[in-house]
Amino acid sequence: MLTYTILITGASKGLGYSLTKLYLSKGHKVIATYRKNLEKLEELKDNPNVIICQMDVSEEDSVKKAFECIREKTNHIDILINNAAVYLEDRSKTIENIDIEKAILTLNINSIGPLRVLKYFYNLVEKGAKKLIINVSSEAGSISNCWRDREYAYCMSKSALNMLSAILQNYSKTKGIKVLSIHPGWMRTDMGGPDADISPEEAAEGIYELSMKNWDVNDKNIYMDYKGNLMSW
Ligand SMILES: NC(=O)c1ccc[n+]([C@@H]2O[C@H](COP(=O)([O-])OP(=O)(O)OC[C@H]3O[C@@H](n4cnc5c(N)ncnc54)[C@H](OP(=O)(O)O)[C@@H]3O)[C@@H](O)[C@H]2O)c1
Repeated sequence: MLTYTILITGASKGLGYSLTKLYLSKGHKVIATYRKNLEKLEELKDNPNVIICQMDVSEEDSVKKAFECIREKTNHIDILINNAAVYLEDRSKTIENIDIEKAILTLNINSIGPLRVLKYFYNLVEKGAKKLIINVSSEAGSISNCWRDREYAYCMSKSALNMLSAILQNYSKTKGIKVLSIHPGWMRTDMGGPDADISPEEAAEGIYELSMKNWDVNDKNIYMDYKGNLMSW
């Protein structure tokens, strides 16, 4: 079986951690990046296939430093997974009293974060064999299916991420790079809460299967859920 090198942001917990463990269990190499919480990742540090590296996607210096460090350890990335994100919504807040600082922070991490990561790491994906970029999006980013009357910043951040995916796919098709924007389902994580539908392990399995497929770079249907069901922008 072919083995790949996968970079995952926000690997300290939740879906990012489940993806890290799953790719490692299948024999792939994982560059697991974290913001500040190393606790769970340290349990994996003796695995020779894992590189653990600090990277706060909200700060360009941090992304640049991580790139310089990772470039010394690998000359390519096969699959880049932009997973790191925050959900800072207070559902009691409507348009009249929305917290603008939290909204700016949310957009900075969830939308500009992946842009920063791609600014530095895109050239390593070009050198990879698999040539796949997965942006972990959300059904909350769908404009045509929008049902919410609040949670502005999180939803806006995922719509913007979807636009990043669409533009990047246009740019990348001549390079043979595929971009996917994947809704991972409502997961029982710190973000999704205990009442959510599925475990992060189940979402990770779905994303893993999708990542192993052979994709057509000219197909513009790139927004889908973790089972591969197409979603409407
Ligand atoms: N949970 C759901 O139901 C659900 C539904 C739809 C979409 N999603 C999406 O799925 C992805 C994973 O969500 P999750 O449920 O696993 O969330 P989670 O459990 O809250 O984990 C989020 C991860 O992102 C990291 N992170 C946050 N800010 C960061 C920053 N500035 N730089 C680097 N890493 C940062 C966190 O690191 P720390 O340990 O430092 O906080 C953590 O590792 C996200 O993109 C989310 O929007 C989730």
